[in-house]
Amino acid sequence: MKINIVKNIDELSLLAARKIIERVRKQPTTVLGLATGSTPLGTYYKLVQDYRDNKTSYKHVTTFNLDEYVGLTSADQNSYNYYMREHLFKSININPNQTFLPNGVGIDPAIECDKYEAKISESGGIDLQILGLGENGHIGFNEPGTSFSSRTHVVSLAESTREANSRYFNSLSDVPTKAITMGIETIMEAREVLLLVSGERKAKVLREVLEGTITEKVPATVLRNHSNITIIADEAAVKCLTKHCQISS
Ligand code: GLP
Repeated sequence: MKINIVKNIDELSLLAARKIIERVRKQPTTVLGLATGSTPLGTYYKLVQDYRDNKTSYKHVTTFNLDEYVGLTSADQNSYNYYMREHLFKSININPNQTFLPNGVGIDPAIECDKYEAKISESGGIDLQILGLGENGHIGFNEPGTSFSSRTHVVSLAESTREANSRYFNSLSDVPTKAITMGIETIMEAREVLLLVSGERKAKVLREVLEGTITEKVPATVLRNHSNITIIADEAAVKCLTKHCQISS
C-alpha cells in the first residue's frame, strides 16, 4: 500500500489526474472504474483540462462507475449518470457507448446487477479503479456490514449516507433509499485501486481504515488486502493518523 500525502484537494486532484492520464497514455484501451461524490470532481476537471491542452485520447477507454441510485433516470440532475456526463464524459472524446453505470431504472434491479457484472467481465475487468471514501467507511455504496464477498447488488442506503448526500438534493426526503453498487469483491478484483481521501470529515474514518481491524463493519478496511493500492490523502484527512501510518509505503 502506498500513501501519498498532499497539501490539499487541489494537489490531490492534480496527482490523481496525472496517474490516470499516465495510465491511459500507456494503455489506450484501459478499463477505468470511476467514482462520484465531491472528492473526484477536481480530478475530473484536471482530466478535462489535460484533454483540451494535451489531447490525451479516451477514444478506446471503457468506464464502469461504482454505483447509481435506484429510481433516478439519467436525465435527473442527481443521478450519477448525469454527474459523469456533466463533469467528464461530455468534455472528452470518450465513446458514450463505452461508458457504463448500473441501470437504476430497470424493471428488475437484481437483473441489472447481474448484467453489470457480466459487462465488466466481458470488458476484461477493471484496470484502474478510482474510489472515494464514505464517512462511515463505505466504498461505492457498500455500507457497513456488507459482505467482503459481495458482487454488484441492490443496497438500502444508511441514513447517515442519505443525510451526507442530501446536500445535493432539495430535501432529505428526495434522496433515494436504494442504490445499485459494485460489490466489495467486484471492487477488489480491479487490478489497481486509487483511493482519494480529502478533508477533516474523513480523518477519523481514514484512521480506522488504515489502523483499525479489517472488518466488514468498516468496508474500506478490506482495501488493506489489495496488492496494488495507492491512497492519495490531503493533510486534513490524515490528521488523526499516527506517525507510523503517515510514513508507511
Ligand atoms: C457517495 C458515493 C461514494 C463516494 C462517497 C463519498 O456515497 N456513492 O462512491 O465515495 O459518497 O463522497 P464525497 O467524496 O462527496 O465525500
